[in-house]
Amino acid sequence: MAAEKKIETTGLLGWIDQRFPLTANYKAHLSEYYAPKNFNFWYFFGSLAMLVLVIQIVTGIFLTMHYKPDAARAFESVEYIMRDVPWGWLVRYMHSTGASAFFVVVYLHMFRGLLYGSYRKPRELIWIFGCLIFLVLMAEAFFGYLLPWGQMSYWGAQVIVNLFSAIPFIGPELSVWIRGDYVVGDATLNRFFAFHVIAIPLVLLGLVAAHILALHEVGSNNPDGVEIKKHKDAQGRPLDGIPFHPYYTVHDILGVSVFLMIFSAVVFLAPEMGGYFLEFNNFIPADPLKTPPHIAPVWYFTPYYSILRAITGEFLIFGLIPFLLFYLAVVWMSRTKFLSKLIAAGAVGAMIVGFFLFDAKFWGVVAMGASVMIFFAMPWIDNSPVKSIRYRPDWHKAVYAVFVVIFVVLGYFGVQAPSAIGERISQVCTLLYFGFFLFMPWWSAMGEPKPVPERITFAPH
Ligand code: HEM
Repeated sequence: MAAEKKIETTGLLGWIDQRFPLTANYKAHLSEYYAPKNFNFWYFFGSLAMLVLVIQIVTGIFLTMHYKPDAARAFESVEYIMRDVPWGWLVRYMHSTGASAFFVVVYLHMFRGLLYGSYRKPRELIWIFGCLIFLVLMAEAFFGYLLPWGQMSYWGAQVIVNLFSAIPFIGPELSVWIRGDYVVGDATLNRFFAFHVIAIPLVLLGLVAAHILALHEVGSNNPDGVEIKKHKDAQGRPLDGIPFHPYYTVHDILGVSVFLMIFSAVVFLAPEMGGYFLEFNNFIPADPLKTPPHIAPVWYFTPYYSILRAITGEFLIFGLIPFLLFYLAVVWMSRTKFLSKLIAAGAVGAMIVGFFLFDAKFWGVVAMGASVMIFFAMPWIDNSPVKSIRYRPDWHKAVYAVFVVIFVVLGYFGVQAPSAIGERISQVCTLLYFGFFLFMPWWSAMGEPKPVPERITFAPH
């Protein structure tokens, strides 16, 4: 017979607790979840990502009440929301600004992970769930962008779906299957709508739940990168921890207030954000017979789009082959296992042969995919003896700063019309981008780390 549950609550709460673990969960995840007491502003972005998720779901539900997923009526239904539905303009601008805000918040959240080594043991699964969330978020934004059925919606979807046709052998059939037609059309709009409003949000919510559960299983990292569970009091509570509620719930109100001020300023004063959040071409209804002169994705996709465009036939031969051979030489000269060296040699050899068999467009798609997927590898390529950037050699800070600059430069050239100089700079940045990750096993272990304190450093304020 199962052991009788020990219930401490009485009255209505006691009645509920005997049937549902309400108090137990409240304690486990809020009032008795001990978080390190030295969180700084970087730790706001997880809860802000949750806030934006809620904003997107609530505004999305109201948009769905008036939007028509029909190629003949979608554009006008969005205009109807903007002009005739009471407060429709606000709901729509909150949703479109929310999409960009989501990426701003998530990029900062991920960067915090990089700075403090939050992806390292025992938090690998938190990071993996995070990377899956990021992929799903990109899919969600892509499907959503087709719905207003403007010129950019239409041609953006056309360009991205066409990328699948670069896959050898099955590509052309695959892209027809994705679109449900030979061109982006009503069938495409209907399925993108279904994915955007229900399928992807369900997956996203499930992944966020898994992300938080994994976090609460192992506990949060912190700016010092030291484990607070190593030093506990007689009751088993971490000495450097404080209950999440009320301390961090109150603390997060500050982050939420500042965020809402900035968010409202954008929604009310600059919802188009100079064409970056809502592109000007998207105020023109989709015209399958008229290709816009310059097609660019929304800003949050542009670093990867730049990598796609950087891969030309010439760059494969004169850029990527020398880069891969150099990488292979480093692997062979290092103290890596012989089997790993053979695998690396096989992979590089197969890629170089592939460069001559398949065209540059295909390798562009591969590079774009790899530039996102490479984040999954983080827990296994960082060999630094310390977690947090605070205790790494100072020049590591410069490496991270260069990485940020590369990411921004790639993003910038991804929005611009193609140019010779833009292409060259994007190619250099593409090599540096991949170099940051591929050579991380070696550079992260180089230099003298600073002494890591036994307990967290914290100045009360
Ligand atoms: C919808 C998107 C996301 C939501 C709602 C979310 C939510 C959260 C929350 C509430 C926390 C705890 C508070 C904090 O540490 O800021 C957290 C921690 C964390 N998240 Fe996310 N997250 C999201 C996306 C991501 C992504 C894309 C990644 C990485 C690829 C990621 C990696 C992490 C890591 C490593 C931690 C632990 C940080 C630490 O303890 O230092 N998250 N997340």
